[in-house]
Amino acid sequence: MPVSRHTGQIPESTWTLTFREMTEPWKGAVGCLGVAVFFAMTIGIISWQAVEQPPEEWVLRGRDAGMLWERGRGALLLRALPAGRPVLAIAVGSVPATEPPPPRDRCWHDGRQFCYSWEEDAELRLALEPPAAPGTECYSVRWTPLRPDVTLKDCFSMANVSWYGGPSIRAQRWPLNGAESPAQPLVSGDLSANPDGFGPLLERFFLGSTGVTVTVAPDVSLLLSLESHQQFCLETPAGRAEPLHYQLCVSTDVAAARRHTASAPARTPPDTALLGSPIWRYHGPEGSAAKIKRGLRSLVRRLKRHRLQEGVVALGEHGTAVLAAADLVPSGRRKRQAPALVEPLELSITLSPYAGIASPLFQRSLRGGEAAGYWLSRQPRPGASSIPLLTTWKGQLCARLNVTSEAALGWYLARAQQLRQALGATYVAFEGVEGNSFLEQDVPAPAELEGDGYTEALAAALATLGNGTIVSAGSRSSHLPLFVQMRPLRSDWSHAGLKGLIPSVLHYSLLGYNFFIPDAVGGSEAGATPGDPELFVRWLQIVTFLPVMAFGTPPWLCCDTWVLNLTRQCIQRHRDFVVPLLLKYSEEWQSLGYPIFRPAWWLSPTDPAAFTIEDEFLIGDEVLVAPITEKGQTWRDIYLPGEGHLWLDTNTARVFDGGTTLRNYSASLAEVPVFVKTS
Ligand SMILES: *[C@@H]1O[C@H](CO)[C@@H](O)[C@H](O)[C@H]1NC(C)=O
Ligand SMILES: *[C@@H]1O[C@H](CO)[C@@H](O)[C@H](O)[C@H]1NC(C)=O
Ligand SMILES: *[C@@H]1O[C@H](CO)[C@@H](O)[C@H](O)[C@H]1NC(C)=O
Ligand SMILES: *[C@@H]1O[C@H](CO)[C@@H](O)[C@H](O)[C@H]1NC(C)=O
Ligand SMILES: *[C@@H]1O[C@H](CO)[C@@H](O)[C@H](O)[C@H]1NC(C)=O
Repeated sequence: MPVSRHTGQIPESTWTLTFREMTEPWKGAVGCLGVAVFFAMTIGIISWQAVEQPPEEWVLRGRDAGMLWERGRGALLLRALPAGRPVLAIAVGSVPATEPPPPRDRCWHDGRQFCYSWEEDAELRLALEPPAAPGTECYSVRWTPLRPDVTLKDCFSMANVSWYGGPSIRAQRWPLNGAESPAQPLVSGDLSANPDGFGPLLERFFLGSTGVTVTVAPDVSLLLSLESHQQFCLETPAGRAEPLHYQLCVSTDVAAARRHTASAPARTPPDTALLGSPIWRYHGPEGSAAKIKRGLRSLVRRLKRHRLQEGVVALGEHGTAVLAAADLVPSGRRKRQAPALVEPLELSITLSPYAGIASPLFQRSLRGGEAAGYWLSRQPRPGASSIPLLTTWKGQLCARLNVTSEAALGWYLARAQQLRQALGATYVAFEGVEGNSFLEQDVPAPAELEGDGYTEALAAALATLGNGTIVSAGSRSSHLPLFVQMRPLRSDWSHAGLKGLIPSVLHYSLLGYNFFIPDAVGGSEAGATPGDPELFVRWLQIVTFLPVMAFGTPPWLCCDTWVLNLTRQCIQRHRDFVVPLLLKYSEEWQSLGYPIFRPAWWLSPTDPAAFTIEDEFLIGDEVLVAPITEKGQTWRDIYLPGEGHLWLDTNTARVFDGGTTLRNYSASLAEVPVFVKTS
């Protein structure tokens, strides 16, 4: 039986023949019909996409999470699988929000990547990365501008997410959600010179309470803006057509996310002997070396008289320079043995990488002496000679040490070592480690000093001086055996004063800087006049539980004998109770990289109430400190984290359940609520 072929098909020859035989008007009509059908289909597809398509669409899916594109708003959404728990929303500011109608993959059908180009604007490439830790999934996000004038800007929503990490700021907040800052380079800076800038300690790391982390590579030129309670934005500088690249990681919760981000390099603590030694800052007469020496001896006599004769006396930069000029006489005439300036206490001296243009040090270098070429210079144009880059430090025009020159560093470190020996100092503090002088002067920086390259290089060099080194800033240096001096706080109860202290403690420790020295009890910002005994006492009560207790105004000057007595008790408690805890958790930090000072959410990582607590902290996971930070108050609410645990009040021996809030808990001026986890 012959098989009938071509059933249901128009025989080609017939169709061609018929069309050829048509008259011209008929041909025109068929053509028009074709065009009409084409348009009808196109409109149909467009409206189907607009109406029928879901408003969000998966663009990349991993095992534990996935990313969606939200149409209309132009946002990337990160959701945890399998339930689709919202983790993060990123508003994409650099491309038309409504485009692409459906994002289509242009990554050569690779299931682990998603790419899309917005014509002439930017290209987006998302990629699943090999897992960094079990239970974590990471994505790389890379934007490439396709026009020179495109500024890339991604904004991370604060709706239902509390954020931690990033920069220190003048009025520190925990979480970051309450902070406000215009877009500015994410580079460490001196808050006394630029109060609206970023502070001396920062990392390109943000942690969200949904268990997400955002990490930006060091080589990305980056501006950060903080829009209070709405979003924070990462953006590239205008007109430079640089890519924006960061990594997102998702974990089950916020504490797991932090545990999984332990930095790789080996971590070493600084000299732990300083932990048990209170620091007494010298505020006596300066002027001549003889005057300073007399002043130091007088401070020591007074400390002895008040039975506070243990610890460290800290001499500021100016005093150190005066003593250095007197003591660092050319070798040969120098007295060999170190003078016992502050016996039985120890001495700390202060240096900075700045040299005043009138200083003998800088003058000698101008004449081509020992230090020629040791200072940062403007990058010379071809054929021109280099000019020193002058910046202002403590109100003086200064040159700054060139940390990329081996010779300059070697000379500077040798000089610091020599001075330390000559003055018999146990500790050396370095101020002015923060900041990018090129950026401040708006001149191009050499590649190795872009961003926080200066701070990183100087901190690494100073760490070679030994484990008794204190630096004023930190960026990618949390693994080094250095103490970090916190910035001066205002002598008041605001977030720029006492209320900012615990947020700063949590911020420093979260970023891995556990060996910080808090500002002097009572605050020490220029113009501060500590005279409020209540503020002094509440401040003292917090600092008792921090690594090092530092004093500016001594208690016998600010307050009465009761406060002096309390100071002695607090120093004792710090030594007996806090230092052993710090040593214990320092070991955990070395092996696992966990912070020593932990927020309430460390033990309650899924309780939203824990995310916004900024006036309590944990030492390890066994001691909870909940001090009063409000003027005139003798009671407060206390959140006890960790459902299933029991907390013992060290003042009253009463026991409470974790996962609860104690309302209106009493704490007289003599008391600080401290709880110990008993199970
Ligand atoms: C935040 O959470 C609330 C309650 O779960 C929800 O109604 C709201 O839509 C969320 N907001 C955003 C922007 O996700
Ligand atoms: C600090 O250095 C000194 C001398 O080099 C050493 O004895 C001490 O153990 C070090 N401390 C720590 C905590 O590493
Ligand atoms: C620092 O010193 C090095 C080596 O002498 C030199 O090549 C470099 O240009 C200097 N950098 C700056 C910014 O002056
Ligand atoms: C200082 O404190 C101790 C111990 O609490 C107490 O015995 C002593 O009376 C106090 N002295 C003053 C002057 O308050
Ligand atoms: C807390 O307790 C004090 C007295 O102990 C009382 O004066 C105050 O009104 C209470 N505050 C609240 C919010 O309950």
